[in-house]
Amino acid sequence: MARKFKQIAIYGKGGIGKSTTTSNISAALVEAGYTVLQFGCDPKSDSTNTLRDGKYIPTVLDLLRAKPKVDAHEAIFRGFKGVYCVEAGGPAPGVGCAGRGIITAVELLKQQNIFHELDIDIVIYDVLGDVVCGGFAVPIREGIARHVFTVSSSDFMAIYAANNLMKGIQKYSNTGGALFGGIIANSINNTYQRSIIDDFATHTATQVVEYVPRSITVTQSELGGKTAIEAQPESVQADIYRSLARKIIEHTESKVPAPLDIDALREWSAQWANQLLAIESGEIRGAQAGI
Ligand SMILES: Nc1ncnc2c1ncn2[C@@H]1O[C@H](COP(=O)(O)OP(=O)(O)OP(=O)(O)O)[C@@H](O)[C@H]1O
Ligand SMILES: [Mg+2]
Repeated sequence: MARKFKQIAIYGKGGIGKSTTTSNISAALVEAGYTVLQFGCDPKSDSTNTLRDGKYIPTVLDLLRAKPKVDAHEAIFRGFKGVYCVEAGGPAPGVGCAGRGIITAVELLKQQNIFHELDIDIVIYDVLGDVVCGGFAVPIREGIARHVFTVSSSDFMAIYAANNLMKGIQKYSNTGGALFGGIIANSINNTYQRSIIDDFATHTATQVVEYVPRSITVTQSELGGKTAIEAQPESVQADIYRSLARKIIEHTESKVPAPLDIDALREWSAQWANQLLAIESGEIRGAQAGI
């Protein structure tokens, strides 16, 4: 029996770990026997390279620049254990709209019904932090991805980007847009970081899907052009990504999040600032601080 086809999108602040996390989820899912397509939506077109020994692939926009008509198969490459990789690409730097790559690439694959043809179980869109233009909102707005996740650390700017993403989802939710699946908490290495991200999830009526520590395993693997799943399959970090991947593939219930307006977000963060200061100065200890 064919499995149910699923499309998810991963957003988050620049440099927060979207491509690393997405590639490890993809690698863990192909390893578990799923047919996976990772769709890089960043004009940098580096989303899939740790699935392909650090090698870059021609993007949909590169191919379309070379000739007017492109077959979708030409833009799809295989990586670790057969994972399918696509990079939307972008315009030449400084020219044109970066979101166009996503619109064009999504259209190309949709028109040619490629997901069905390849019998894909899950498409994972690795998008961007801020929904800066219409192109980047495509996976959310048009309901292409049903479930949206954000990668966020406990740093304010990452949380700010996550909160903005929730605002985008909330806006498109009553016109058939995607819903929010949860926060993938990245670079969480101590209890106060965990408490901050947990508290943000509570305040926005969302949930944390997984806590991923910052780990040298990821650094080493990336330097070798690989995911942790491929380079260090026995590592603790690889098991954390497997656990995350399982939760993502089994996830069914997404919802409309309740983002904070900017004043409420600032008030929330100021309380944490006081809390951390009090902890540092020894005024309150972990248990009292609720962490
Ligand atoms: N859990 C982690 N442990 C160690 N290093 C990490 C972890 N997560 C991400 N990194 C590192 O952080 C850097 C940025 O990660 P990545 O490229 O995945 O971010 P991104 O959100 O996709 O960035 P961009 O917005 O530029 O696309 C990489 O060098 C990556 O190896
Ligand atoms: Mg990236």
